[in-house]
Amino acid sequence: MKSAFLAALVTVLPAYVAGQAQEYDQCGGTGWAGPTSCVSGTTCTVLNPYYSQCLPGTAVPSSVSSVSSISSHSSSVSSAPSTGPTGTPTPTAGNPWTGYEIFLSPYYASEVQAAVEQISDSTLAAQAATIANIPTFTWLDSTSKIPDLGTYLANASALGKSTGTKQLLQIVIYDLPDRDCAAKASNGEFTIADNGQANYENYIDQIVALIKQYPDVRVVAVIEPDSLANLVTNLSVQECAEAQTTYLACVNYALTNLAGAGVYMYIDAGHAGWLGWPANLSPAAQLFTQVWTNAGKSPLIKGLATDVANYNALNAASPDPITQGNPNYDEMLYINALAPVLQQQGWDATFIVDQARSGVQNIRNQWGDWCNIKGAGFGTRPTTNTGSSFIDSIVWVKPGGECDGTSNSSSPRYDSTCSLSDALQPAPEAGTWFQAYFETLVSAANPPISA
Ligand SMILES: *[C@@H]1O[C@H](CO)[C@@H](O)[C@H](O)[C@H]1NC(C)=O
Ligand SMILES: *[C@@H]1O[C@H](CO)[C@@H](O)[C@H](O)[C@H]1NC(C)=O
Ligand SMILES: *[C@@H]1O[C@H](CO)[C@@H](O)[C@H](O)[C@H]1NC(C)=O
Repeated sequence: MKSAFLAALVTVLPAYVAGQAQEYDQCGGTGWAGPTSCVSGTTCTVLNPYYSQCLPGTAVPSSVSSVSSISSHSSSVSSAPSTGPTGTPTPTAGNPWTGYEIFLSPYYASEVQAAVEQISDSTLAAQAATIANIPTFTWLDSTSKIPDLGTYLANASALGKSTGTKQLLQIVIYDLPDRDCAAKASNGEFTIADNGQANYENYIDQIVALIKQYPDVRVVAVIEPDSLANLVTNLSVQECAEAQTTYLACVNYALTNLAGAGVYMYIDAGHAGWLGWPANLSPAAQLFTQVWTNAGKSPLIKGLATDVANYNALNAASPDPITQGNPNYDEMLYINALAPVLQQQGWDATFIVDQARSGVQNIRNQWGDWCNIKGAGFGTRPTTNTGSSFIDSIVWVKPGGECDGTSNSSSPRYDSTCSLSDALQPAPEAGTWFQAYFETLVSAANPPISA
């Protein structure tokens, strides 16, 4: 028994004894201290300055053309390193969207297509159809969605090879145990009491394994909407206080393992009306910097995502009355206030801002209202032309038309926010299609949609 075990161990050992990385494992990159040679049949390939990977084959892989453009990009990066608090240069990864085309979610396109077929007004239908071509994020909000990621990675890889245009896939990591601890509408599949942390790690492991199979596809991820913001302001909610340690451990697991797969990441940072209050800025910056530090300060942890699935303007023409004197009454002001505090703490973070449903302002009764706001319109289209060096891209994280939460008070996930007078009703369960809502997003879009 014992010798059989030892014999089995010996057959496993040589690769590790020789310090060789396995197929699809990391074999180099800034700060990498592990093995730099690969097992036979695979070649250590530079994917970006922070990540090299053992890829199948001994010849130069076809993705090498993308590698050369990435390294020319990185040379400008390394010529101007920023300096961390200790005086050691901290490399920054460039804007992840530069040089890439965003892969369109086939699922969202099919939702939009089905919605268009239900619209009788031909002008509105033609406008609605254009939404399928605007990139959104794919929310991996349960393990059942992970196979879709595999399909999209395969499709994006194939598309990149056939068109010669490198593809970038946008995802949201959103499956913490005891998720949405201060509300109910988006509670998830895992609970801390029932093995939640291990289940979450398994969820991340599955995602990482898929992403490592498609090194030619760049992946950008928003990390866990609302989770850390809840730890800044909502620890008086018992479920948030009880979730604190597990949230931090799980977010750290996600950041370190996704960085190991070359994923560019933005940690969710709530929005101007949440962490943008002057009293919240410094505690928020401290928590975010701590989380980034604990995750090894990977340059792939680019910074923070704001306004995810919310309705705030990037640049409000004037303060909405609901902002009640907060000097940071829009996302630009919030970011301009938060970024320097992060810098003081050593993190040159950059931002992305969700503007999917921010086209119309001054439509809410209170700033805290977040559910299916009546009168909302699609907002500024995704662009890296952001008007701010702090902001890498304006994005559409929320797939417009997917519901924020049900107004059915008998549903286990009912949150009373979804039956406030500024919420469109009746509303189906969170994440499911809300046709009436989609149609008003289209008709109220600002800038308007030309068809
Ligand atoms: C997408 O990938 C799946 C799984 O590999 C494949 O079955 C499907 O044909 C692909 N579709 C396109 C449009 O490439
Ligand atoms: C969570 O914090 C926000 C911001 O301080 C506050 O408006 C909200 O009421 C809190 N949620 C709960 C359930 O206490
Ligand atoms: C509301 O939710 C309850 C419980 O899930 C369900 O039985 C009922 O059919 C729902 N009502 C509507 C109108 O969807």
